[in-house]
Amino acid sequence: MPVTIPQLMQWKQQQRQIVVLTAWDYAIAQILDEAGVDVILVGDSLAMVALGHETTLPITLDEMLHHAKAVRRGVKKALVICDLPFLSYQESPQQALHSAGRVLKETGVQGVKMEGGYPSMVETIAKVVQAGIPVLGHLGLTPQSVNQLGYRQQGKTPAASDRILAEAIALEQAGVFGIVLEHIPGELAQRITQKLTIPTIGIGAGADCDGQVLVTADVLGLSAKQPPFAKSYVNLRAAIAQAATDFGTEVRDRRFGK
Ligand code: KIV
Repeated sequence: MPVTIPQLMQWKQQQRQIVVLTAWDYAIAQILDEAGVDVILVGDSLAMVALGHETTLPITLDEMLHHAKAVRRGVKKALVICDLPFLSYQESPQQALHSAGRVLKETGVQGVKMEGGYPSMVETIAKVVQAGIPVLGHLGLTPQSVNQLGYRQQGKTPAASDRILAEAIALEQAGVFGIVLEHIPGELAQRITQKLTIPTIGIGAGADCDGQVLVTADVLGLSAKQPPFAKSYVNLRAAIAQAATDFGTEVRDRRFGK
């Protein structure tokens, strides 16, 4: 049975952890889906891990659509959510609705993720949700604001921590079905998780969220550099280099194809 948004809410109530990983192409998506990952996020981190940009800012909506279509084709069971990229939704609720609508209509994914919890963004998200488009929120370290925040941990002072909690409550009231909490102290993530009825998905936010997400390139050991909270479960960079070297050696020695 395909994973649904109401199921994520049930899993929170049942205290069943939600497993989320990112994907940027068909093959990765198919492998993650077959491995039983609950939610596959076409994260705009693909701008960095798959396209070689320094930040997530340069990726366009059309590029995200291209990758989301490929991911969607690889998935049978997981819920697929796609990031709205920088400046495809911040201008106005109309722009957000237009971009989110394109993502759902053109790719077949089930929802979008939007960063931020400041008042005008909460208003924008409420409009998108009211149009029938599921939205996943994203608070704490929001990489589309890297030029203001850097990649530093957020919510460290009591005032900052209270602000993030207030934003989480406002996003829940706006109708988001879950919130990604990135790079905030574990105690703050736990406070937010206890306060909300929707699931929280942590990344660098301790062990007490309702689920966890990682960037798959980090999990696979493909990234040249990764954040301190990431974890690699295999070193594919080394495995790929070894495979390429072995092939090269066989070809140069005229052993390949014999
Ligand atoms: O773009 C992305 O991969 C993300 C995750 C880090 C949550 O937003």
